[in-house]
Amino acid sequence: MFEIEKIRKQFPILKQKVNGKDLVYLDNGATVQKPEQVIDIINKMYSQYNSNIHRGVHYLSNKSTELYEGSRETIRKFINAGVTEEIIFTKGTTDAINLIAFSFGEKFINEGDEILIAETEHHSNIVPWQMLCKRKKAHIKVIPADENGELILSEYKKLLNKKTKLVAVAHVANSTGIINPIEEIIAEAHKSGAKVLIDGAQAVQHKKVDVQQLNCDFYVFSGHKMYAETGIGVLYGKKELLEEIPPYQGGGDMIKSVSFAKTEYADLPLKFEAGTSNYVGAISMGEAVNFINSIGKANLERHETELLKYAEEKLSLIDGLTIYGKSENKTSAISFLLHRIHFYDVGMILDKLGIAVRTGAHCAEPTMKHFGITGTVRASFAVYNTKEEIDILSEGILKAQKMLS
Ligand code: ALA
Repeated sequence: MFEIEKIRKQFPILKQKVNGKDLVYLDNGATVQKPEQVIDIINKMYSQYNSNIHRGVHYLSNKSTELYEGSRETIRKFINAGVTEEIIFTKGTTDAINLIAFSFGEKFINEGDEILIAETEHHSNIVPWQMLCKRKKAHIKVIPADENGELILSEYKKLLNKKTKLVAVAHVANSTGIINPIEEIIAEAHKSGAKVLIDGAQAVQHKKVDVQQLNCDFYVFSGHKMYAETGIGVLYGKKELLEEIPPYQGGGDMIKSVSFAKTEYADLPLKFEAGTSNYVGAISMGEAVNFINSIGKANLERHETELLKYAEEKLSLIDGLTIYGKSENKTSAISFLLHRIHFYDVGMILDKLGIAVRTGAHCAEPTMKHFGITGTVRASFAVYNTKEEIDILSEGILKAQKMLS
């Protein structure tokens, strides 16, 4: 049973008024709000269980460690990784991509090699590869998108060659919500001998993800976009690959032994978790998975798809509104512009009406350039949103249009 009112009640932040209106929170692509059970576990961590993980023999340290490692197992199951050693806690998606850009880059990228990324990537899946390419004198090649923002697979296949060492693409493009055909992208890359990193930051909270079925080499995502804390994320990597690549950072917890002559690194997953990690965040991520599981991924996906379809229908009725990123394969986001009206002005009027949306280039300047624009208004949905909120958005857009035309 999918009971929206029961779900909404679990999010204290949604109960407030903004500018005298009921809050309509449609900026979920940027970050989602947190349910009580996640807030509770963070509270409990600091009021009952807090102590540094992996470092003490006392009760509290054991308790924190147990919860942290339990969370790793919960996340393993959530994405169906084979073993917990394949789940590395990072600061977030960006941190995980930088980790691979450094460690995979050190081991496998040489002068003249090529890395393929998509035209519709978030900056976090562009800049780390540019930095790597500069360091190693390698090259970035870009998989082009069509006029709707969908990747052109025939062009992708032409770009693959024996110099291609890595393909890094988003599962879902953050600025448009388009779901990329990652199954085919992964299969083609492997045929050509390249490894694949999937940026799942905008996907894992909306869709079922099975990393073994996908057969991707790396899959990365953030906690704060899936109902957990900020400053925490996950890198999934195939065990044999993670074993082959060097650590990203040195420090405590990532070693077996240290002397001035020689350091022996810890086994997976700790090899990639130097220093005191954000263990509270990691534990909140496990709890966020419990929250998602309590609703059921299939129910959540069905609800969010209905919301998206409803929003597309409603917004398509508005004269002078253009949707960017039109596709049958989308999830939970709709990006648009009103004719001759700046996106910031629309965003500010919607805010006055209590509606939160994201405005701007969405950290995806090349995508905006592709569409010949500088930014959009993006409404993005989570499990707690309703059709009534989309009606309010639609009325808000009409009001903004009237005031600004
Ligand atoms: N990457 C986040 C977004 O798309 C912040 O809004």
